[in-house]
Amino acid sequence: MSEETAPYGTGPAQQAGPAIKRIRTHHLREMKQRGEKFAMLTAYEQYAAQTFDEAGIEVLLVGDSASNNVFANETSLPVTVDELIPLVRAVTRSAHRALVVADLPFGSYQASAEQAYLTAVRFMKEANAHAVKLEGGAEMSPQVRKLTQGGIPVMAHIGFTPQSEHNLGGYRVQGRGDAAKQVIEEARAMEEAGAFAVVMEMVPGDVAAEVTAAVSIPTIGIGAGPECDGQVLVWQDAFGLRTGRMAKFVKQYADLHGVLLQAAQDYAADVKAGTFPGPEHTF
Ligand code: KIV
Repeated sequence: MSEETAPYGTGPAQQAGPAIKRIRTHHLREMKQRGEKFAMLTAYEQYAAQTFDEAGIEVLLVGDSASNNVFANETSLPVTVDELIPLVRAVTRSAHRALVVADLPFGSYQASAEQAYLTAVRFMKEANAHAVKLEGGAEMSPQVRKLTQGGIPVMAHIGFTPQSEHNLGGYRVQGRGDAAKQVIEEARAMEEAGAFAVVMEMVPGDVAAEVTAAVSIPTIGIGAGPECDGQVLVWQDAFGLRTGRMAKFVKQYADLHGVLLQAAQDYAADVKAGTFPGPEHTF
């Protein structure tokens, strides 16, 4: 564990050992070596970021899933760099301990390593991101190499990659049967290119376990079973702010939609009944 210690953070993850001022990529690698799991959640604004940071969540991802969960698009494809930068800035300002990863949106890095570098630099300079994430396997090696050589930590994302959903024929499990070999090769390619971690989305649990054993960098699963070194979920799914059909891999820990709905209905009823504001709210 790092010698960098400070009094930030009170979450359960800190109670196990000396307080960590800021989670760094090497802490995740060391956790993998010790067989200690870590948690990652998406975050897109101040209060969720502060709360998850306080809870001891090690990694906050400002995902391009903001496209669906903030900007109300149907897919992750339309969101832009200019739309994501203010969200990343809010999260980095709000999280004192978590490693904050900015997702590079569709079309902002695929064209070339140079394009990827220039986009990633914007997230680092304008939003204080600590790392970036990009989707793709071996074909992204030049991008990952360029970024890491230029001082930018990169989290890779393989298996089902939502930015390629049209190419992949929709939301489908990747790496079944003979395709398992390819998932392992992609993870190895990302490790070799310098990625500090790799997200695996919708990959059979046994394949994800094989990948986790095959690479020295941490693996982070979303629909990839329990053997990954870390897990990630989109917070509005996990805590029930979003309603409707959920993917099989989502576990719901709360019903925030229900809580907010009830609170909004109680408020509206008080206003209509003239019971709010009361004397205690009046100057
Ligand atoms: O954008 C996102 O939220 C993601 C996670 C699902 C890994 O990429």
